[in-house]
Amino acid sequence: MNTNATMNEIDLSVNLASIEMKNPILTASGTSGYGPEYLEYCDLTKLGAFTTKSITLEERLGNPPPRTVETRAGLINSIGLANVGLESFIEDKLPEARKLGIPLFVNVAGKGIDEYCKVAQTLDKCDGISALELNISCPNVSEGGIEFGTNPKLAAELVNAVRAVVKQKKLIVKLSPNVTDIVEIAHAVIQAGAEILSLINTLRGMAIDVETKKPYIARGFGGLSGPAIRPVAVYCIWQVYNKVARKRDIPIIGMGGVQFARDAIELMLAGASAVAVGTAMYIDPQTPIRIIEGLREYCVRHNIPKISEIVGCVDQPIAQ
Ligand SMILES: Cc1cc2nc3c(=O)[nH]c(=O)nc-3n(C[C@H](O)[C@H](O)[C@H](O)COP(=O)(O)O)c2cc1C
Repeated sequence: MNTNATMNEIDLSVNLASIEMKNPILTASGTSGYGPEYLEYCDLTKLGAFTTKSITLEERLGNPPPRTVETRAGLINSIGLANVGLESFIEDKLPEARKLGIPLFVNVAGKGIDEYCKVAQTLDKCDGISALELNISCPNVSEGGIEFGTNPKLAAELVNAVRAVVKQKKLIVKLSPNVTDIVEIAHAVIQAGAEILSLINTLRGMAIDVETKKPYIARGFGGLSGPAIRPVAVYCIWQVYNKVARKRDIPIIGMGGVQFARDAIELMLAGASAVAVGTAMYIDPQTPIRIIEGLREYCVRHNIPKISEIVGCVDQPIAQ
């Protein structure tokens, strides 16, 4: 190992199932729109990749407001996959998003297998997209989403069907922490053709205004994100990496409460090859840029010439 790496010599690049990223930091779906509308707040071109909001076949207005509430250590949201729909995404949003010049991951959602397949098959033919991320873990819609992500048979069936129509793009499958055994789901989707896993989506949560006795969120409950869920993300990533992903050479995009460089490093030590920033974008849209610089400093301090060397390098605890 080179023991004298300087800031400029540090190699932050990562290879995600043949997708070359100049650094491991990207955005988490749904927290930076479709990309360009965020450019005035953060120079997204400096990121390793960008992930869009979930795209469905038709435009969706999402759930009625209020659909977000801040809690002590996190945010509960119940947006309900509001998005412009496939056609408008391709016509109005994709041309601008392509101009970012970094790998673009388009998140795909649907009510049923048919919708997921239609959206994925159409996007598969569009230039400038590196990967499709299947959202099988949204807790905020009554049909589709999480029902696929909590049942290994259904998850495999969905991924199999999408795999059959996606010929060009890499397939990322986004997992839910709202399960008894996330490893079982990870295993099922890898068997069915997932090439990259992303985890975690939000954890189901609820907050009640004690004065009015009403839930803050119109729909009652939502998905909890932000600092509160980071330890859950670390544990899920560590389990999935060690029990299935490492052996099968499947890279993990880790996410959940990442706000500082040390948080991203923690997820990488647990087994993530890349790390997405979500809720922290609302605290400071410059978060990903700060994290990238922080990764460089960490590498210099620890004499690590290449950031990818730290993936999965946590000291393993004593076997139970
Ligand atoms: C307001 C909001 C909207 C989100 N929308 C989506 C979405 O459309 N599709 C999706 O797969 N995940 C969505 N997520 C989940 C995030 O991508 C991420 O998995 C989760 O928030 C955990 O990361 P974080 O704690 O850094 O936010 C959303 C999260 C938030 C807070």
